[in-house]
Amino acid sequence: MSEINHIISPSILSCDFSRLGEEIKKIDASAAEYIHIDVMDGVFVPNITLGHPVIKQLRKFSSKVFDVHLMIINPRKYIEAFAGAGADIIGIHREINDDITSCLTTIRKLGLKSCLVYNPDTPVNDLEGFLPYTDQILLMSVYPGFGGQKFIRSALVKGKECRKLINKSGLAVDLEIDGGVGFDNAHEIKLAGFNVLVSGHTLFSAPDFKAAVQKLKDI
Ligand code: DX5
Ligand code: ZN
Repeated sequence: MSEINHIISPSILSCDFSRLGEEIKKIDASAAEYIHIDVMDGVFVPNITLGHPVIKQLRKFSSKVFDVHLMIINPRKYIEAFAGAGADIIGIHREINDDITSCLTTIRKLGLKSCLVYNPDTPVNDLEGFLPYTDQILLMSVYPGFGGQKFIRSALVKGKECRKLINKSGLAVDLEIDGGVGFDNAHEIKLAGFNVLVSGHTLFSAPDFKAAVQKLKDI
């Protein structure tokens, strides 16, 4: 796996929220390139997390890439606010009731990277049409809403399919996976063609965060 630099994106959903600034600094001192920030509205998913004002505060603590995953029903309304708060990548879900291409284009026009997210049960057969408008495809390997869930293995098959389509397109699109990623499945995840790995529970429950990030990267 060493020829590809696999990007690690620790999900702060599993961190200690009472010490959020310190947790961000901890990620900053690790080999992780991204920080994965899960935004949930309690409608698109059953959980509620944080919004753009918190991200704005966190921006002061880190120079890493803020990989913002919007699990909200109307992301278009907030794209500008998240961009202004310091997001570098904004991910919107394929399942939202909106014009996907237009949302992805809006994100790019603000100078950010756009990401399109597919839930475990959403087919990726329309992916090719969106590739010219996106910098990253994110496949969910759990049903979104909570950290620490069991990895859904069908994401590996979907990942291979997406990797083929991305390579065929010749476009520079990253392939990210989110949910249940750990030391036990990182190897097969990388083999399937994913190059960005989100991980929450595994990294934040490890005794040595920095070492855990490095381990996930090197597997
Ligand atoms: C789930 C979130 C994930 C989650 C991953 O809805 O999108 O980012 O935090 O956490 P783990 O690695 O614990 O499954
Ligand atoms: Zn996420």
